[in-house]
Amino acid sequence: MRIAVGADHGGYGLKEALAEHLRSVGHEVEDLGTDNERVPVDYPRYAEAVGRAVAAGRADLGVCVCGTGIGVSIAANKVGGVRAALVHDVTGARLAREHNHANVLCFGGRTTGALTAVEALDAFLAARPAHGRHDRRVREIGAMEQAGEQALEVPA
Ligand code: RB5
Repeated sequence: MRIAVGADHGGYGLKEALAEHLRSVGHEVEDLGTDNERVPVDYPRYAEAVGRAVAAGRADLGVCVCGTGIGVSIAANKVGGVRAALVHDVTGARLAREHNHANVLCFGGRTTGALTAVEALDAFLAARPAHGRHDRRVREIGAMEQAGEQALEVPA
């Protein structure tokens, strides 16, 4: 798979560990930075870069890391077509893919250990989007995105 990765300084270490793991199991990694943990940088631009790579189809999936994972998940979700999920464990990662059809996985480099994050990432990659009611719910999210600020008719 082609996987885009990006992080700010707070997520740099975990991003490096995840990228190395992804390469070791045969994935093609596009590393969108940052390239060190010393220089503080703003997380939105890295989350945006990963989101745009996924939305444009240049990457199949994305991985974003900041200190908590919160900032990158908020920012990545502003890119049209991105469903970014902040996860802390294997179950959350698997369900993010199966139920929410997440296409970007976010971690906190200061809150989640590398071993847990690697296991969660593997679970995410092994999972497949579930269909039926989950398709409908993901379509509802897409409709919200299309509607922008306009109010939606909420189905009963
Ligand atoms: C950077 O200090 C920190 O605010 C950032 O990595 C992230 O945790 C934001 O959500």
